[in-house]
Amino acid sequence: MTNKRPEKIKKMFDELAPGYDFMNSMISFGVHKLIKKSGIKFLKLQKNAVAADLCCGTGDIAGLLAENKNVKKVFAVDFSDEMLKIARKRKNSSKIEFIKADCTDLPFENASFDVCTMFFGLRNLNDPQKAVSEINRVLKNGGQFLHLDIFKGIEPFNSIFDGFARLFAKLFSNNPESYKYLIASKNEFYSPQKLAQIIEKHGFKCSKMRKWAFGIISAQLFIKDCSQPE
Ligand SMILES: C[S@@+](CC[C@H](N)C(=O)[O-])C[C@H]1O[C@@H](n2cnc3c(N)ncnc32)[C@H](O)[C@@H]1O
Repeated sequence: MTNKRPEKIKKMFDELAPGYDFMNSMISFGVHKLIKKSGIKFLKLQKNAVAADLCCGTGDIAGLLAENKNVKKVFAVDFSDEMLKIARKRKNSSKIEFIKADCTDLPFENASFDVCTMFFGLRNLNDPQKAVSEINRVLKNGGQFLHLDIFKGIEPFNSIFDGFARLFAKLFSNNPESYKYLIASKNEFYSPQKLAQIIEKHGFKCSKMRKWAFGIISAQLFIKDCSQPE
């Protein structure tokens, strides 16, 4: 199993931060932006919605949320100083507040948010269920949790993706080791269906699921369901 000690993960993302957006575009052939936009459309954003984007990285998702006229405020959370430094420069919006925090211990009151998003984050956590529990705590009743990540897709496409990721990392990244981690963490992680079952045990109902790129990317929308015990 891949080592996901928070200090190790934080150091890795601090080092990756300067090349993160470039590498994302290379590895996904530019498609990651389209997928992020399609994913965000899963959300029903009511007027004056308050959102938290967790594991915000360089701020793409917080930026997309802030562009929506119904969204009043976005709190964008990450524990990497270097990612946050870049995010603050890239997404300079009065609607977004960037906060340094660990997603397994959120600095928010209970029932603060209408929406929580986490894109490409949960797979990197040592204790993903702790984060899901925190998300449940900070969401209002009926609030939405949108999760999107890479998963082990169907073969041979999964192995082809892994091959390209390894090659691009060798050619263009200053930290090819971290892309070995990316591949291992993807292939070891739960399937989208199994993950949805686990998240549902934390007081959510999965209301929508979609897969792209032969199952290598999947989004799941959950609704906080107060009839389910956390
Ligand atoms: C793969 S990046 C995803 C960034 C962004 N969501 C996106 O879609 O481009 C994962 C991010 O999660 C952050 N992260 C990982 N574990 C975390 C934790 N326990 N608490 C807060 N942030 C964490 C990393 O610092 C990194 O910025």
